[in-house]
Amino acid sequence: MCGIVAAVAQHGDVRASVLKGLKTLEYRGYDSAGMAVFAEGSLEVRRKMGKIANLEAELDRNELPASNIAIAHTRWATHGVPADRNAHPHIDDQQKIVVVHNGIIENYLDLRALLAEKGHEFHSDTDTEVLANLIAYYRTQDLDLHQAVRKALSKVEGAYGLVVMSADDPGILIVARLDSPLVVGVAEGESYAASDMPALLHLTRKFLILENRETAVLTDRSQTIFDVDGNPVERDYLHCDWTPEQAEKGGFPHFMLKEIYEQPDVLARTAFDRFHDTEGDVEFESEFSLTNEELGQFERLRFMAMGTSLHAAQLGQKMLGQLAKIPGETLNASEFLYSPELEEGHTLTVVVSQSGETADTLRAMREVQKRGGRVLGICNVQGSTLAREADDLILTHCGPEVGVASTKAFFGQVTALYLLAIRFGRARKVLDADAGRGYLQDLRELRHHLDASFRPEALESVKIAAKYLAGIRSCLFLGRSMQHPVALEGALKLKEISYIHAEGYPAGEMKHGPIALIDEDFPIIAIATPGITYEKMLSTLQEVRARSGKIIAVAAIGDQRVADSADYVLPVPAVPELLAPLVTIVPLQLLSYEVALALGKDIDQPRNLAKSVTVE
Ligand code: M6R
Repeated sequence: MCGIVAAVAQHGDVRASVLKGLKTLEYRGYDSAGMAVFAEGSLEVRRKMGKIANLEAELDRNELPASNIAIAHTRWATHGVPADRNAHPHIDDQQKIVVVHNGIIENYLDLRALLAEKGHEFHSDTDTEVLANLIAYYRTQDLDLHQAVRKALSKVEGAYGLVVMSADDPGILIVARLDSPLVVGVAEGESYAASDMPALLHLTRKFLILENRETAVLTDRSQTIFDVDGNPVERDYLHCDWTPEQAEKGGFPHFMLKEIYEQPDVLARTAFDRFHDTEGDVEFESEFSLTNEELGQFERLRFMAMGTSLHAAQLGQKMLGQLAKIPGETLNASEFLYSPELEEGHTLTVVVSQSGETADTLRAMREVQKRGGRVLGICNVQGSTLAREADDLILTHCGPEVGVASTKAFFGQVTALYLLAIRFGRARKVLDADAGRGYLQDLRELRHHLDASFRPEALESVKIAAKYLAGIRSCLFLGRSMQHPVALEGALKLKEISYIHAEGYPAGEMKHGPIALIDEDFPIIAIATPGITYEKMLSTLQEVRARSGKIIAVAAIGDQRVADSADYVLPVPAVPELLAPLVTIVPLQLLSYEVALALGKDIDQPRNLAKSVTVE
């Protein structure tokens, strides 16, 4: 939530590269944006409500002076409505300290009252303006800029990713983090800071990752990290393997569409190098340190995640149950805190997150660790908080996901969970090498099967169904067993980007209430692919038809029985049941995309959402 970019360079003007980085971060929040520079002895700030395009128009009208130092921000409102006055950067009332901030300062009203008593004036509704004034206040108390920032932060309760620039300290940026991501980028004669690595990939792939409560002093030639007590800290560089091109649209009209089309490659990148064909097993990298013995000792699994990652986790539970015969439960991470504090015993907690920065998920992970449990993270972002704090890690190798509606990350997570199921199954001797090889081969063949989902006839079916769906107000997605989480995910995709009300249900539940909704204006989207649930899904279709409901069915190519019952068919290749979610999700993602496109919605940046939800 909210995006920060900052730069200080030995030579030249950093405005354009900071703005370019900021645009890469727009998925983190887009209700206002701003930039500040230091030039000719003073701080200059421009801010505008709305998307970064509005800020650019403002900068055309009222240019910022060229500068070798700049900070910028794109906002997802927490305190105060989206408005020019609430946009960041925020500057103190003496125009000495300017700040960009992600997170929430919980005690800002108390701090504001204290500062008001000392004569500070405020012009916004935000917590961040209070922080700018607090730092400015301490800067006048015989403290240098770094000391003033640390002193101010010692008074703050809440979370922050922060960059500070001062009129009296040219060429210095102070950065800080607590429960809100912040990375430092390093290049020859240049230092950068940003909320996410993709914002800086056009400038560097060499990073330093800040830990909670650390601060850093950045100049054009140095990056010094300090712990909470102000002692310098040594930190290894992280070399990011993402490329700048991966963070661009590459000819597609939207990131979401590009990311849907990337899924066959995600399959290859997440899985194929990890196959151990002779053993019929999977080899993860060194961050996964669980031994066969340890895997054999777990008696239960607990999966935790939010949103789309939760749906992937639900599939993981089913896969692990089937291939490794290990029981599990899947919890919404935000609910875990309220669960009874039972003995962790022989439970492994699998925490799934694309960003590795979701506040609810991180909080739950830390709670498990506090209770003495072990956490395996499944995550897409190297160096993210989850990737660093989980006891073991599987990276999904999806490349940066920019569309707010998650697609390829789900695909990568489900693929990784399937690999984990094989690894567990082999370690627990539930699968022999032959069976393991069979499951690996199924995954290898899936890559070719996926082509069918992108053929013109398949895309045309999606477009026809989308044209109909764009005219309805509400619908149900139904699936059974492996397709139940896919139904949930299909419904989430549709509501996120088209704002059409949609709910996912296990199909068996329909008769127990939701069936009351069905009439000729109320459609269901049913996943009716081959497998143990097939006949039951056909019965569900009949029940809907009997009440004149419209049916969009995801069905195997050439399945006439489903076609005879449905109004629209989205054809998918027939694949093994355990892997079917990876083919059925594709037309549902495309369906949401086409509906949102038909309705003229902002597909990559849907209203009220942000890519990475870093507040609880
Ligand atoms: O980064 P995470 O996977 O932890 O994010 C979890 C959810 O916030 C995320 O999946 C969200 O639901 C997406 N908007 C779904 O498209």
